[in-house]
Amino acid sequence: MKVVIASDHGGINIRKEIISLLEEMNIEYEDLGCECSTSVDYPDYALPLAEKVAKGEVDRGILICGTGIGMSIAANKVKGIRCALVHDMFSAKATREHNDTNILAMGERVIGPGLARDIAKIWLTTPFEGGRHKNRVNKIRTYEAYVE
Ligand code: RB5
Repeated sequence: MKVVIASDHGGINIRKEIISLLEEMNIEYEDLGCECSTSVDYPDYALPLAEKVAKGEVDRGILICGTGIGMSIAANKVKGIRCALVHDMFSAKATREHNDTNILAMGERVIGPGLARDIAKIWLTTPFEGGRHKNRVNKIRTYEAYVE
């Protein structure tokens, strides 16, 4: 598995925490920044990351900003992206099993680094259940294929 990760200025600390988790798990990753001490715009990070996932250049993406909201809204504009904003363990597992999400978003002003690490770990290791959930995800894919 290859993962791409990015944050804005509001998510740098959790991004570093997740990078150390990826290294511990021996998961290959690409870090898109930011290397910012000043304010940057979250779509400038979310959209290129989501494009990489949608094109199949990497398997999964992780985005962190202050709330996780801006990153998740932007990522979900890219066709083929199913990005979940997650701040609890139950949802981290369920969104892989049920929604086959390919991007995880989190907010550094909402949760601490320990919970973020646990959420990322379970999200990275939980498989999609398929079955009835596949039919539901396919309905989203069909809609995406239909709309311009
Ligand atoms: C930046 O101040 C903040 O708006 C951003 O990190 C994020 O929370 C947006 O949704």
